[in-house]
Amino acid sequence: MFEKVGNNMVGNNTFEFDMPKLNWNERITHYAKITKMPRNLFIGEDGRVVGTWIMGNDYRVKSAYYGGYPATYLKRVKSLFPDKKNILHVFSGKVDLDTFPGDTVDINPALNPTYLDDAQHMETVPLYNYDLVLADPPYSVEDCDHYGTSMVKRNAVMRALQRLPPDAHVVWLDQVLPMYRKDEFKVEATIGMWKSTNHRFRGITIFRKL
Ligand SMILES: C[S@@+](CC[C@H](N)C(=O)[O-])C[C@H]1O[C@@H](n2cnc3c(N)ncnc32)[C@H](O)[C@@H]1O
Repeated sequence: MFEKVGNNMVGNNTFEFDMPKLNWNERITHYAKITKMPRNLFIGEDGRVVGTWIMGNDYRVKSAYYGGYPATYLKRVKSLFPDKKNILHVFSGKVDLDTFPGDTVDINPALNPTYLDDAQHMETVPLYNYDLVLADPPYSVEDCDHYGTSMVKRNAVMRALQRLPPDAHVVWLDQVLPMYRKDEFKVEATIGMWKSTNHRFRGITIFRKL
């Protein structure tokens, strides 16, 4: 199913590349098999994946970190991408690395990320080594107040992510579709995410690097 295309050594890390061969039908089948969740992702006539995730009673955040991923989010995303080897969590906060291991980028040194860096530039991050990025930016100035950070220019983050290798995917959770270059990224999937009553709706956009 996978085709090995090479190794790359950076620092102490050996990064492995497997060319992704899964199509979205296979990704969705794997998602349903691993999570045992309803098969609520569909391939539209335009070839784009659409769907809705209703987090139900599983909306709580294990770490209790403000804005942290709700329970089952990481398991769901991971199950869509069994072919990915080198994972990068951008705006990583207190992401649950036991559930979805990977390297991390955050601007807050107290969180001890792999790369202490501004996601708008990521100059210290060897992005060309990663084949899957999960991004969870603060959504508003009010959210930023919780982190003591300034509002992020989403288009700058997407510009930095242009340094990813071809066929890398970016899973972006937000209330806004970030501006991106259509000659650099293709939107392959859009998934609405509902939690319980009185919580904001969010959207997941999955980009593929061209
Ligand atoms: C929504 S939280 C992420 C929570 C994470 N998904 C989790 O499960 O814990 C946003 C994170 O972005 C970080 N952040 C804010 N501005 C940033 C920037 N310019 N560059 C990198 N990280 C930033 C904050 O420190 C915060 O940890």
